[in-house]
Amino acid sequence: MHFAARTGFDPEPSAYGLALLAARSRGTLLDLTVSNPTRCGFAVPAGLAEALSNPAVLQYDPDPAGLHSAREAVSRLYAERHGATVAAGNILLTASTSESYGYLLRLFCEPGDAILVPSPSYPLFDLLGTLHDVELQPYTLQQHDSWHVDMGTLRAALTPRTRALVVIHPNNPTGHFCSKADRAHLLAFAREHDLPLIVDEVFLEYGLEDDEPSFLTSELSSSGRPGDESKVLTIVLGGISKLLCLPQMKLGWMALRGPQELVATARARLEIIADTFLSVGTPPQVALPTWLSQQPQIVDQVRQRTLANLEVLDRLLPGTAVSRLRVEAGWTVVLRVPSLGSDEALAVQLLDEHTLALHPGSLYGFRGGGWLVGSLLPRADDFRRGIAALLSFFAS
Ligand SMILES: Cc1ncc(COP(=O)(O)O)c(C=O)c1O
Repeated sequence: MHFAARTGFDPEPSAYGLALLAARSRGTLLDLTVSNPTRCGFAVPAGLAEALSNPAVLQYDPDPAGLHSAREAVSRLYAERHGATVAAGNILLTASTSESYGYLLRLFCEPGDAILVPSPSYPLFDLLGTLHDVELQPYTLQQHDSWHVDMGTLRAALTPRTRALVVIHPNNPTGHFCSKADRAHLLAFAREHDLPLIVDEVFLEYGLEDDEPSFLTSELSSSGRPGDESKVLTIVLGGISKLLCLPQMKLGWMALRGPQELVATARARLEIIADTFLSVGTPPQVALPTWLSQQPQIVDQVRQRTLANLEVLDRLLPGTAVSRLRVEAGWTVVLRVPSLGSDEALAVQLLDEHTLALHPGSLYGFRGGGWLVGSLLPRADDFRRGIAALLSFFAS
């Protein structure tokens, strides 16, 4: 029997995966990688579950783009939070951001085509690319005082088979927003090379310092007219797995802007892809308007937790061998640690010797050793104990 080569995955867990299993079997893990928000002790507003008891959840009224009432609610969210106008007609619901990416790879790429993706970033694209026969062309994000796109690497990565440019705003795990200057450069690059811009904004509401506008928000050029953003087909991705801490409810969206004709073509084709699967359940779509109205209660709790854990770091790290990078947004922190070989070997050693789980930076594309990535979601006590274990490891 033939199994497709694209599913010839390596069945062996990584050294890190094996060490994690072993550490779990030995007892309580100090888990600073936890990213499942439903396991982090946040208070869930009562209205979230109540919204699912609406009798409308029992009606099946399929629309490939998703229920109009849910898309209207997403449109209102962008208008109210970001002053952005995106009509419900230009929003399509999916089961998750990962599914949105899958649809977009289907929309833009032939087998063997490629997309430009940032590095370091969340390790989501490798498998998505493999499963859709799409190559990844990483471009580098560089960190000096703040992060910015190394445009030289972006230009160098481009080939005649490049079909889309992916931006993550704010990026995970670097926790930085795409700056205004980078945004202008990326839009100009996309326009020059006739590429669609795919903008992943799943962490947009989790700004810790200032709120930053969505790529759906209009910026005016210096001449007072809309700039490149009105000329580039832009697909903004969002979803409730992060926005409402409800990954189990499976609802994401794509919001389209750009030249009318391109938006209409993309929308029509995406609707046919979506119609093939009709993967979004009715209950979360019915509940979405109520859920989004309660979003500040959830975001605020996560933000408080994140800030509290950053304070723990800022109390414990000074004067030690460990430091942290600035976090503008999101749930994740990047730690700079002494380089003792590969990041994976270090993460394995932390698991073996301290039952402490932190991700190796190499998993996210950090190079050169000396990077660990941690979640800021754990309860403050757990977080403090984990960081204390890390510091005692380096102190010894
Ligand atoms: C930047 C980024 N985009 C997308 C996703 C996946 O989102 P979803 O759960 O909606 O598929 C993640 C998951 O952590 C992420 O970090």
